Amino acid sequence: MSHRTLTAERLVVGFERARPVLDGASLTVPAGGRLAILGANGSGKTTLLRCLSGTLRPAAGRVAVDGVPLEHSRRGLRAHRQEVQLVLQDPDDQLFSASVAQDVSFGPLNLGLPEDAVRTRVAEALTLLSVDHLAGRPTHQLSYGERKRVAIAGAVAMRPCVLLLDEPTAGLDPSAVAEAMAALARLQENDSTVVMSTHDVDLALSWAEEVAVVVDRQVVQGTPDEVLGDDALLVRARLGRPWAMTLGARLQELGLLPGGALPRDAERLLAALPQSPAVRT
Ligand SMILES: Nc1ncnc2c1ncn2[C@@H]1O[C@H](COP(=O)(O)OP(=O)(O)OP(=O)(O)O)[C@@H](O)[C@H]1O
Ligand SMILES: [Mg+2]
Repeated sequence: MSHRTLTAERLVVGFERARPVLDGASLTVPAGGRLAILGANGSGKTTLLRCLSGTLRPAAGRVAVDGVPLEHSRRGLRAHRQEVQLVLQDPDDQLFSASVAQDVSFGPLNLGLPEDAVRTRVAEALTLLSVDHLAGRPTHQLSYGERKRVAIAGAVAMRPCVLLLDEPTAGLDPSAVAEAMAALARLQENDSTVVMSTHDVDLALSWAEEVAVVVDRQVVQGTPDEVLGDDALLVRARLGRPWAMTLGARLQELGLLPGGALPRDAERLLAALPQSPAVRT
């Protein structure tokens, strides 16, 4: 899969006159990377993702792929959908065919691909999301976590360069979150660019290569250390500080962790701790 750089430039979006949700919001999705979009409820994460996917047209500003602006014509949107796919937060907004295999094949069939190419894509997507065993099942019988993974499989079957996931882990239990994250890791090995919106600062710190916070109608983007280490920004955005940064900073103060970059999750924090207990005197 080839890498494409998806950008949003100075987007202005509003649903009510004089009260824009986004006002001058810019974002660059790193090609081949993992970007987490963070923000409080109602900050505009879904709105931003919908603009990036072409399903919502901004009042001003533009979305571009490799610098080529998205055209909101039938043809332009069709071409954009082959590069960029959005998976909605609620799988029930996305799944509508009778069976899992039918649902996942819907997009590729719509592209007019021959049947065996569709079958290959569907099998590949179901395997990537570890839902092959569900292929023949009616979608309405699936658990919420299974439906979320099937909805992602439907987007993956389109082989997009950029996959946009709106809160893929929301409403999942810890083991389903781990399964979803493992699936995302496999997608990345497959060379996809993955963008995920989430409220979970801990998940963002552990997973993302870059983080974008939607705050005050704009986007602040940077490395996880820069963005999630900026306490004033986190307060403004109504987000908490990741626990690994708080604990890591304290352990550095106590001399129990070497200075430098803070650990990003429990595994990396434990690995950075001294391997034998300090001798008490
Ligand atoms: N179709 C719409 N019509 C009117 N207002 C809308 C519409 N879609 C979104 N909004 C408003 O835009 C603002 C941003 O909504 P959005 O769904 O983008 O936020 P979000 O960051 O995704 O929130 P959440 O974390 O709750 O999913 C909210 O105030 C919302 O009420
Ligand atoms: Mg949302």
